[in-house]
Amino acid sequence: MLAGRRVVLGVTGGIAAYKAIELCRRLVDAGAHVVPVMTAGAQRFVGATTLSALASEPVQSSLWSEADPIPHTRLGQNAELIVVAPATARFLSAYATGYSHDLLTATLLATRAPVVVCPAMHTEMWEHPAVQENLATLRRRGVIVVEPDSGRLAGGDVGHGRLAAPERIVAAISEVFAATDAPGGQAGGALRGMSVLVTAGGTREPIDAVRFIGNRSSGKQGYAIAAEAAARGAEVTLVTTSNLAVPPGVSVERVETAAEMHAACERIAPTADIVVMAAAVADFRPAAAVDHKLKKADGTPQIVLEPTPDILASLGASKPAGQTLVGFAAETSELRANAGLKLVAKGADIIVANDVSAPGVGFEHDTNAVLILTASGRDLSLGLGEKREIAAALLDLIVEERSGTAEPARPTENSTPTGA
Ligand code: C5P
Repeated sequence: MLAGRRVVLGVTGGIAAYKAIELCRRLVDAGAHVVPVMTAGAQRFVGATTLSALASEPVQSSLWSEADPIPHTRLGQNAELIVVAPATARFLSAYATGYSHDLLTATLLATRAPVVVCPAMHTEMWEHPAVQENLATLRRRGVIVVEPDSGRLAGGDVGHGRLAAPERIVAAISEVFAATDAPGGQAGGALRGMSVLVTAGGTREPIDAVRFIGNRSSGKQGYAIAAEAAARGAEVTLVTTSNLAVPPGVSVERVETAAEMHAACERIAPTADIVVMAAAVADFRPAAAVDHKLKKADGTPQIVLEPTPDILASLGASKPAGQTLVGFAAETSELRANAGLKLVAKGADIIVANDVSAPGVGFEHDTNAVLILTASGRDLSLGLGEKREIAAALLDLIVEERSGTAEPARPTENSTPTGA
């Protein structure tokens, strides 16, 4: 995947700069042509000589090179991918605002290549709204963020903010190249240029200040779909109640209730090419949440429920032309009949149904088995497989349906996810 790829490795001034050496070695070992660019701060932590010795070219660090008067445009235009590891808070701020004061930030403005940033900093800095807002800006622009790990930080502190392990960064880079090389992908992935909205997780409907009505949905299937769509080049927004690790290249909007999810979907869906409602949205909520904690001494509460908005049905009723709308159906019996009814009732193009009472299927598991029905008449059964494999098979089907290359209805009972 990495062989012969021209990768610019940007290194900024954090203590984790020493790990960029290992990252560089791994990229070179995998066959990549690594062009190192260091900031002045980075060179206070590790010597340029070390990185030059391991990379494919000597380190560059200045905008003012006599040999090449415009090094940033040459670097930016020739790169197939730029990875910045570690990315400091200051670097993120400069990159988010376009403040191109040094070779690395100028190179990033001069490129059309995919960019992967790998932040590393102390937990307090990582959690600061300024840093998070800069990251949100970058994600919105399609920058892939490899989230930091938790563990030992500089100075002996322990917390979140440690640079992601080199193998995770290499995996994220490989995923970007996999999208570029995906079948049907010209300038990078079969979904390049498309906007995809995915919902994930179970909603929480407040009873009082501390209690809620919820369900067992983990959000894993929705995250897998979002990750797969981003890897295929789509611009992905994930509206989620779950707190799982954000997949590379995905913008996340966190919500809690069906009403909040509804508002987010109503705002985002009208411009989406593909909408996948994988969330387990509560069908009922307490009609009036109590604003304090209910006390046992006050007696057993009588909770009056009211229906929540059916988000999928309302998106189905106002679906723009050309949009593919996908719903999920978690069932415990009559899978096919219920999925068929939902396909029509919700105005969806595709329903993905799973029998959540079967072993290893649905809520909380890493695996799933699904029956997929399409409005065009297709009927696919995918046997037990990883949620990411189910996501890949679903996206293959969506691409086929959108390009009008879907084969006529044919039952494929018990096929494997990859065989779909
Ligand atoms: O009717 P049921 O809840 O089984 O439908 C499941 C599908 O509908 C899922 O795609 C889910 O995300 C969506 N849904 C919704 N709003 C609700 C209930 C379900 O969008 N209030």
